[in-house]
Parts: sequence; C-alpha cells; structure tokens
Amino acid sequence: MESPFREGLFEGKVVFVAGGTSGINLGIARRFADLGAKVAVLGRDPDKAKAAADSIGGLALTADVRDYGATRTAMERVRNEFGPMDVVVSGAAGNFLAPALGMSANAFKAVIDIDLLGTFNVFRGCHDLLATPASLIAITAGQAVNAIGLQAHACAAKAGINQLVRVLALEWGPDVRVNGISPGPIAGTEGMERLAP
Ligand code: HXC
Ligand code: NAP
Repeated sequence: MESPFREGLFEGKVVFVAGGTSGINLGIARRFADLGAKVAVLGRDPDKAKAAADSIGGLALTADVRDYGATRTAMERVRNEFGPMDVVVSGAAGNFLAPALGMSANAFKAVIDIDLLGTFNVFRGCHDLLATPASLIAITAGQAVNAIGLQAHACAAKAGINQLVRVLALEWGPDVRVNGISPGPIAGTEGMERLAP
C-alpha cells in the first residue's frame, strides 16, 4: 500500500513540539520536518534544544512547561517567526520509579505539573496562536489506563491528560482537533531507561 505520508505533505505547515528536544517527541518533530513542515522544539536545557533543533533544521526554544508565561512567550515566538501553528504536540514529561510511600508531596507534584499542568499550559496558551483548522496532540501513555506500581504520579498525570484531551476536543472542535497518542514502550528512550533500566 502506498504511504499516506507523501513527500512534502506538511510543506508550509507550522509544527510546535513541547518536549521535542529528545526521544519520541524529537522523532515526531524530525518526521514533520522531513515532510516539509517548519518545526519548533521546546525543552528546559538550551544546549539540548539547540542540538535537537539544528539536527532537524528547526527553531530551538527554552522554557519550563510548568511556567505558563514562559511557555506562552515561546509559542508567541513560533507564531511571530513561522506563522500560525497548524500542529501543536504536548509531550514534555517527567518520570521515575518510586512507591507512593517513597514519594514526597513535591515528588508527586513534580510529575503532575510537568505532564498534566504542562499540557494544559501548552494547549491553553496556544489557542489564539493557531491556524484554522489546527491539530493538538498530547502524548499520553499506557499508565493512563493501566495501574502500574511505582508509577502513582505518572498514572495519575497521564489519566488526567486523557480526560483533558476529551474535554478540550468537546470545547474546541471541530476547528481545533484535540487527540492523544499513547506510544508503546520505545527502546533507547529516556522513559524506558528510567522504567526498565
Ligand atoms: C523519589 C524523587 C525521585 C526518585 C526525584 N524525586 N527523583 N523522589 N524517587 N527517584 C523528588 C525530589 O526529591 C523532589 O522532592 C521532587 O521529586 C522534585 O525533584 P527535582 O529534581 O527538584 O525536580 P525537577 O528538577 O523539576 O525534575 C523533575 C524530575 C526529573 C521528574 C524529577 O527526573 C526530570 O526532569 N525528568 C525529565 C526527563 C524524564 O523524566 N523523562 C522520562 C519521561 S518518559 P523533594 O520533596 O525532595 O523536594 C515517561 C515514560 C512513560 O514518562 C512510559 C514508558 C512506558
Ligand atoms: P524524554 O527523551 O525524556 O523527553 C522528554 C522531553 O521533555 C525532553 O525534550 C525534555 O527536555 C522535555 N522536558 C522535560 N521536562 C520538561 C519541562 N518541565 N518543561 C519543558 N520541557 C521538559 O522522553 P521519552 O522517553 O522520549 O518520552 C517522550 C514522551 O512519550 C513522554 O510524554 C512520555 O511520557 C511518552 N511515552 C514514552 C514512552 C517510552 O517508551 N519512552 C512510552 C509511552 C509514552 P529537557 O529535559 O531539556 O527539559
């Protein structure tokens, strides 16, 4: 069967990937760039962001997705330099293995804030910077529906993301489509290193 991803499919499109400076999200960003999109990637570490952006010919942005103002400023830069965003991917995440009794409230909060609040910040903050139509994609995980020991924070955060996606799809569709993608375990990523070292 012919691939639906024909050459130049995303020519002229603007794609922003929060957490796109490594791993799965960088893979997504690279594929959009390969298919012709103008792509911006965002992470906390400026050197890592620059290396990632350079590797795909994209724009490097630095912000912590837990900080609404900084995230919004970064996305305004994408709109100003590239134009309204056609695709926004929210994939920044934090994770570590720990039993609930081995997590401080701040440890639980750290993962909730990066994954769930971060996704709210990215999606809420991008809405008036979008093209029409636009597609928002949250990166979720099997932990959203399968309870896994040592993963109370990630399970709660990803479950929250799934419901956030559903509500925003109801409120913002059909011009702004909101979906989640749940990858399986991907070898060679930070996530798998942390969960199955
Ligand atoms: C218990 C821990 C801990 C651990 C950190 N904490 N690691 N508690 N066990 N192993 C606690 C700290 O003591 C602190 O609590 C609180 O968590 C916040 O830690 P900080 O280091 O101050 O936070 P921060 O610098 O914001 O870093 C967030 C982080 C970090 C999540 C802890 O690991 C990070 O930045 N991760 C990003 C990269 C990542 O995790 N990638 C994997 C995503 S993949 P106290 O009380 O001491 O203040 C993924 C997998 C999906 O999601 C599924 C695969 C199948
Ligand atoms: P990764 O390489 O650790 O990527 C995480 C990205 O998010 C990096 O770009 C990181 O850059 C950025 N980031 C982390 N915290 C941030 C913050 N507070 N603000 C802004 N950016 C931040 O992870 P991965 O393993 O490829 O996973 C990517 C996504 O897929 C995650 O949503 C994860 O939950 C999901 N997933 C992964 C797997 C897997 O097998 N790995 C399976 C299912 C789902 P900085 O550190 O520089 O900020």
